[in-house]
Amino acid sequence: MKDIVFSGVQPTRNLHIGNYIGALKQWAHIQQQHHCYFCIVDEHAITVPQDPKLLRERILTVAAVYLAAGIDPKRSILFIQSEVPQHTELGWLMMTVAKMGELERMTQYKDKSKKGGTVGAGVGLFGYPVLMAADILLYDTTIVPVGEDQLQHVELTRVLARRFNEKFGETFVVPQPLIQKIGARIMSLQKPDAKMSKSDESEMASIFLTDDNDTIRKKIMRAVTDSTTGVTFDPEKKPAVSNLMTIYHHMTGQTMKEIETAYEGKGYGDFKKGLAEAIITHMGPVRDKIEHYLSDPTSLNKILDSGRDKAAAVAEAKMKVVRERMGLGR
Ligand code: AMP
Ligand code: TRP
Repeated sequence: MKDIVFSGVQPTRNLHIGNYIGALKQWAHIQQQHHCYFCIVDEHAITVPQDPKLLRERILTVAAVYLAAGIDPKRSILFIQSEVPQHTELGWLMMTVAKMGELERMTQYKDKSKKGGTVGAGVGLFGYPVLMAADILLYDTTIVPVGEDQLQHVELTRVLARRFNEKFGETFVVPQPLIQKIGARIMSLQKPDAKMSKSDESEMASIFLTDDNDTIRKKIMRAVTDSTTGVTFDPEKKPAVSNLMTIYHHMTGQTMKEIETAYEGKGYGDFKKGLAEAIITHMGPVRDKIEHYLSDPTSLNKILDSGRDKAAAVAEAKMKVVRERMGLGR
């Protein structure tokens, strides 16, 4: 039996190598066996302030990035969340199913609202996981591939699906999260105890998918290392080097043992040079493809139109059932 897979990325800031390893690369692989929906979640992006013009640009950039990372529009449905209004519709209906206490426990909300305090935090930020649940539930999704940080949101989705089904009758499939083991969390190049994040203030903390070769070299050479020497994988004692080795593993396919053997008796300088070249070899072609897709908006738009139409047909069929079950309309 084929699984139905759904995942999404926010078109905020630049996508980085953590997104690539933790999400995009995995998706390109999964689509070979399963029926996949890959969504650009622009309505999630606006839960924090966005510049409208930049947001538009980034939506197209993310679409180009998906395609460059190997998402095949003949196999997978690639679309923009706001172009399928059933997402916000189901999002609202699920708001009436979710509880305040459940949303207050979401760590991402707690983190993001910390700066200004919950009193000043947007209601959209608070309800964000409910919209995410709607994204997933509209398509009878069975598998949700995400990074570790999104696990709590997928768990909430499962709770809401079950609660809805109990209240209104079997309607939604209860989805499973799928977390990749190595590299589920790529850490900052500057602070190995923090996730590599689009919102990091330091440019040096992340490798962006659009970085040129010299920038990649510069960022890797300046990445922090650990106080003890030796290229050995030990996330507890050597978090910085283990993070760099994790990136190396994903760029080359080599195991940690193979990397350790290759750099036995060598210093961090040699290892970093090797890592920078490995990133350039793997990511250079991806960067070139991103540019290629962005330079051809006609074919990019065709792909997004077709994705929207296919997604909307499935979403509307589900919404008919949901409205009926909840007793909405005539
Ligand atoms: P975000 O950048 O938070 O919109 O996340 C987009 C996708 O990339 C999600 O599946 C995240 O879990 C994943 N992701 C984001 N940052 C990282 C990271 N540093 N390491 C691994 N996966 C990540
Ligand atoms: N919240 C996710 C993130 O920030 C993005 C997202 C929105 C998503 N809807 C989704 C991921 C549905 C998986 C499934 O990474």
